[in-house]
Amino acid sequence: MTVYIPEEKISEIKHAADIVDVVSEVVALKKTGKNYLGLCPFHSEKTPSFSVSPEKQIFYCFGCGEGGNIFSFLMKQEGVTFPEAARALSRRYGIELPTRTMSPEQKRRMSQREHLLAVNKQAMDFFHDFLLKAPGGEKARAYLSGRGLTAESIERFKLGFAPKSWDRLLQFFSQKGIPLNLIEKSGLIVPRKSNSGYYDRFRDRIIFPIFDLSGQTIGFGGRILDDSTPKYLNSPETPVYSKSRSLYGIYQAKSRCREKETVYIVEGYTDLLALHQHGIDNTVATLGTALTSDHVRMLKGLTGTAGKVILVFDSDDAGIKAARRCIEVFDKEYVNARILVLPTGHDPDSYLSEFGVDLFLETAEKHTMGIMSFLIGSAVERHGLTMEGKIRVLADMVRPLAQIADKVERSIYIKELSERIQIDESAIYEKIRESAGPAAEARQAKRTRNGAQKSFGSGESRLERRIIAMMLQYPMIVAEINRRGLIDHFSNHELKSLGQVIMAQVEHSETNVSDIIASIEDSAQKSLTAALAMGEEIWDYEGCLRLINQFMASKDRRSNRLLNEIKAAEEKKDFELLNKLLQEKQVRARKGTSQPE
Ligand code: GTP
Ligand code: MN
Repeated sequence: MTVYIPEEKISEIKHAADIVDVVSEVVALKKTGKNYLGLCPFHSEKTPSFSVSPEKQIFYCFGCGEGGNIFSFLMKQEGVTFPEAARALSRRYGIELPTRTMSPEQKRRMSQREHLLAVNKQAMDFFHDFLLKAPGGEKARAYLSGRGLTAESIERFKLGFAPKSWDRLLQFFSQKGIPLNLIEKSGLIVPRKSNSGYYDRFRDRIIFPIFDLSGQTIGFGGRILDDSTPKYLNSPETPVYSKSRSLYGIYQAKSRCREKETVYIVEGYTDLLALHQHGIDNTVATLGTALTSDHVRMLKGLTGTAGKVILVFDSDDAGIKAARRCIEVFDKEYVNARILVLPTGHDPDSYLSEFGVDLFLETAEKHTMGIMSFLIGSAVERHGLTMEGKIRVLADMVRPLAQIADKVERSIYIKELSERIQIDESAIYEKIRESAGPAAEARQAKRTRNGAQKSFGSGESRLERRIIAMMLQYPMIVAEINRRGLIDHFSNHELKSLGQVIMAQVEHSETNVSDIIASIEDSAQKSLTAALAMGEEIWDYEGCLRLINQFMASKDRRSNRLLNEIKAAEEKKDFELLNKLLQEKQVRARKGTSQPE
């Protein structure tokens, strides 16, 4: 499984790492009994069903059925491979991995992701140093201080400056012997169209490094100093950077978001820096893209179940458009976001420098409104309340209203709109039905389906499931199960193979659930194992033996029933049926289940 991380290092990581600790980075957890509970990062939900057991070092979501140990959590959450998850954990817990003894082959295998992160880090330091020290950085320093940014902010956000040159960064990397194709993958250089070669993507721009939640540099934004266009340039999508999953400032914002259970969302780099510099650290910014479910889940993971999300958008057309685009994703993620509307002509940056932080916070306290009310208000403001105006307002509101899946919630807003524009609720309902009705219905149906639990059908499987759960929760019984060859009698293939894995693991060492999960390749089987291990039944030896006997008796009953049926078919001379039954008997004999004791 792992090519270059020695087994004893993995074991060291396992001992040092704590799953509650790691999951808490991205999910706000509350202790409930022995376990911790939070909102699942892997599916949309309103009430927490994501459970973490510190004792067993596993997680399981009762809503979507995802489960596993600390490694599978990171792999799923970050979309990384096992060695990458292991390396991330080793960094986090200060466990030294022997990279220097890596063979060339192993070095080659060191993942592209890690190489790219290293390249980004070096570029960030290069830009930052250039801003602070180079003579060419002087105008950028002046620009930033002219915008009121302090040295602390520049340091905290590692702002930089890309020199006015076609290849300074390229040369910097070439001197270090970094392969061109790797730098190209990072998006920092761009292949020339006409002749061969590359040039620097960011030139003569202020650089805003973009960090992920754990502080790794995943991409960059660059702002021009004057009025030329494009004003901003961003890293392209790369194996480590996806704008739909990244939020500017999340690394610097995370602890305050947790503390305040509130997050502000702004639209730009400079707005974010202004809020942070005024001590409003629980602020993130979208990166020139609409807010996605991934963004919202990330934020829910910080602010928790009761968390507050406040959008701080400009009240201009772009702000309204952005708010419209958010409705659906907030609704899907069950987040009741509010919007803080600043006076016309202001963005958060200009508002703060003109009115100061106290007024900002007071406005944020008193004058936020629901997104839907904001949209109704701005549509009315825009179109007026003439007959014509009302028709336009209604037309503007149909889509946002149709996007709300919850019927009760939708009816509340329809009532609000009806009162505001003095049009009958039924007429509004009619409009919504005409437009997006079917799509919304389909979504609702899908949501209900997704919420449904997977279940194991037959009584036979249920009993086998309980036996596996018992083996996981009370490993002492495994020897007895092994002695009786119980697993050979299982008829559910999935459970049978899981039973065999558990027996093999428990036999050769003193293993815990997390280790058993580690030895399983298939992710569905990992989840199943976590599901069965998560139960809190209190087992004792006697109870276990009763369950074993119950299982054997049901097997016997079934094979006795088969023998009786065969006898009856013989008497009735129903050869077709007899043939079928004999075949079944053979199949069972092969499984070793036909011999009653
Ligand atoms: P300043 O003008 O420096 O105050 O920046 P701003 O953040 O106020 O800019 P603005 O409100 O115009 O844009 C908000 C965000 O949209 C920016 O932070 C960028 O992320 C993005 N954006 C703005 N202009 C461009 C552009 O020309 N190209 C791209 N790709 N993104 C842009
Ligand atoms: Mn601005």
